[in-house]
Amino acid sequence: MKPGAMTPLEQYVRSAVAARRAERGPLLPILHDIQATFGYVDQAVVPILAEELNISRADVHGVISFYHDFRKSATSGTHVRICRAEACQAAGAEALVAHAQERLRADVGGMSPDRDATLDQVFCFGNCALGPTVEINGRISGRVTPQRFDALIEKT
Ligand code: FES
Repeated sequence: MKPGAMTPLEQYVRSAVAARRAERGPLLPILHDIQATFGYVDQAVVPILAEELNISRADVHGVISFYHDFRKSATSGTHVRICRAEACQAAGAEALVAHAQERLRADVGGMSPDRDATLDQVFCFGNCALGPTVEINGRISGRVTPQRFDALIEKT
């Protein structure tokens, strides 16, 4: 790459900003665009967004940190997301998270040692009446017990 040339990430971010600049409150939808395209929000986007939107880096960073949906690193293998919001917690989500961590050998926000799975938390899928709710590779399942979790993982 020539010195001063834009990386593909920078090119993408600048064009995403251009497409949404006229919207009210463009930062959040731009961050969603970035995550939908790359699977996570790289820290390298912070100074680019700050410059493009004329806001501070701290403001951009604050929004990324506030919303648990934004991943800070790429996922690998089977992507498991478990809801930890109130209704799912009341239905046993914490025990399920502990089970998933053991089964996948991954911390929440991390991946298994063989990179076969990534484990994330979410705060509500809108499936509250059927908790605990789990999403595996984009597919939502409700009333997931540890046994059911194992069966779902084996099917992936
Ligand atoms: S609280 Fe878990 S889906 Fe809403």
